[in-house]
Amino acid sequence: MSAAKLGGRFTFIGTSLTVHRIGYGAMQLAGPGVWGPPRNPDAAFAVLREAVEAGANHIDTSDFYGPHLTNQVIRQALHPYPEGLVIVTKLGARRPPDRSWQPSISPEALTAGVHDNLRHLGLDTLYIVNYRVMGAGHGPEEGSIAEQVRVLADLRRQGLIRHIGLSNVTANQVAEAQTITDIVCVQNNYNLAHRHDDALINDLAQKGIAYVPFFPLGGFTPLQSATLSKVAGRLGATPMQIALAWLLHRSPNILLIPGTSSVAHLRENLAAWQVTLSPETMVELDGIADESARVEH
Ligand SMILES: NC(=O)c1ccc[n+]([C@@H]2O[C@H](COP(=O)([O-])OP(=O)(O)OC[C@H]3O[C@@H](n4cnc5c(N)ncnc54)[C@H](OP(=O)(O)O)[C@@H]3O)[C@@H](O)[C@H]2O)c1
Repeated sequence: MSAAKLGGRFTFIGTSLTVHRIGYGAMQLAGPGVWGPPRNPDAAFAVLREAVEAGANHIDTSDFYGPHLTNQVIRQALHPYPEGLVIVTKLGARRPPDRSWQPSISPEALTAGVHDNLRHLGLDTLYIVNYRVMGAGHGPEEGSIAEQVRVLADLRRQGLIRHIGLSNVTANQVAEAQTITDIVCVQNNYNLAHRHDDALINDLAQKGIAYVPFFPLGGFTPLQSATLSKVAGRLGATPMQIALAWLLHRSPNILLIPGTSSVAHLRENLAAWQVTLSPETMVELDGIADESARVEH
């Protein structure tokens, strides 16, 4: 296999876990509103199996997708898990019957969440657990997360979790968590058009900590930009492949977990490593963030 295939490899710092830089995010497998079973269970199995067969060995999930059902689908499709597959899950929220997303951060809730993930995924120990701070929805909010990180560190000492990451956090929260335990990855909202974390990414890159953007394609409303389409047309790729290739070029510590419920989109996304962007094209694509900032203000 070419060393560049699926974007090359990355080892989570201080761990024996090595993954290809292009993985897969499972959130899109749940029903509408990330609630209920997949619309088409066979298609969900096909997406998961093809991702793994193609070499994607980093799957992002959560027991609050479905809720519970997405983890069960992963287990049904892939268990017993192939050697080298890293499943990353997250804790910190719950889904009441009104389908909202509520914080769930007491020691009891976090502990129960670990056991739910273990049971639904069919694992004895979770590879990596991100503490997902609910903050301001898809954006972080300052405030201490020490109590929750201590609970996860304790569950790690008990052998239920191998490694800890953070999601939807500020640089201060990362620094606070690092005084309690080793942090191997940060998962925040970031893409070509949404670049609030530029400084954080550079800082984490220096420390060898993975940065895993959620909404790498723009999330529920995928990115649209005349510049993106123009570059895609010029390079014979799709706009989504350019968006992913830009992330791969942006920093070596960026790992991709694009989400899709479609095998065709999965194939497209997994092939994004084949797109090479020149420094001039990177500058051109960097302009998309300025266009979006003008629209936001
Ligand atoms: N930590 C957190 O708080 C958090 C929050 C959100 C997500 N996540 C994780 O991050 C992963 C990625 O985020 P995401 O799935 O929300 O958003 P995303 O990857 O940015 O985009 C997913 C959307 O893009 C569409 N799409 C995917 N590939 C495409 C392609 N090649 N062409 C056209 N459309 C395409 C999908 O629809 P189709 O299904 O039709 O392809 C879906 O609507 C999630 O799956 C989840 O694991 C974490």
